[in-house]
Amino acid sequence: MSTIAPRMLDRVPSHPNRHPLRHLVLVGMMGAGKTTVAEALSRGYGLVLYDIDQWIEKEEGRSISRIFSESGEAYFRRKEMEILDRILALPPGVIATGGGTFVGETNREKLLKNGLVVYLEASAQALWERAKNADRPLLQGGKASFESFQRILQARTPFYDKAHHRVWVEGRSPESVAGEVWELYWANEGSLP
Ligand code: S3P
Repeated sequence: MSTIAPRMLDRVPSHPNRHPLRHLVLVGMMGAGKTTVAEALSRGYGLVLYDIDQWIEKEEGRSISRIFSESGEAYFRRKEMEILDRILALPPGVIATGGGTFVGETNREKLLKNGLVVYLEASAQALWERAKNADRPLLQGGKASFESFQRILQARTPFYDKAHHRVWVEGRSPESVAGEVWELYWANEGSLP
C-alpha cells in the first residue's frame, strides 16, 4: 500500500496509522466522486482500495459501457453483486461502489452490515455537470437529458439516505472530503454492530 502523504491533505488526520476494522464504503450518484475520494483515502491514509467498477472491467476485459451494450444491465448487476461479495470477504479497505450498487436491497444490507457506509451528496446540477460527459451507459453516452438524470437521482435518494452517514461534497476537494470521511469513520468505529 502507498505511504501516508500528509502534504496532500488539507488537515492533519487524527488517526493516520490505525488500520480499519471494517470496510469504509462510499455510495452515491454518478458524478459524486466516489472513486476520486476513495483514491484520496487510499493515498492519504494507506487504505486498500477496492473499486467495484474497475474490478468488473478488469475481470471482463471490457468497459462498463460495452458490458451494458453487449450483455445487458442485468448481467452487469449480477457481476456487480458477485464482485461485491468477494471484496467483502477481503481485509477491510475503502470500497468505491458504482452509483447503482447501494440501490439493490441485497447489496445494501450486506454493505450496511459489513462496513461504515457514507453517502457522498451534492446538488443534482453539480452531479450532472460532473457525470454528463463521461461514458456512462445509464446516461446514454452523454445524450441523456438533465431531467432524466434528475429522475434517476430522485428514485435513488431514498436508498442513498439509508447510508450510516452523509457528507456534502460540492465545491470541495477530494482530500477535504476524504479527511471528513476518515474522521467520521473513526468517530463511529466501535459504536455500530
Ligand atoms: C451506474 C454507475 C456507474 C457504473 C454503471 C452503473 C449506476 O458507476 O457502476 O455505469 O447505476 O448509477 P459511477 O457511479 O461510478 O458512475
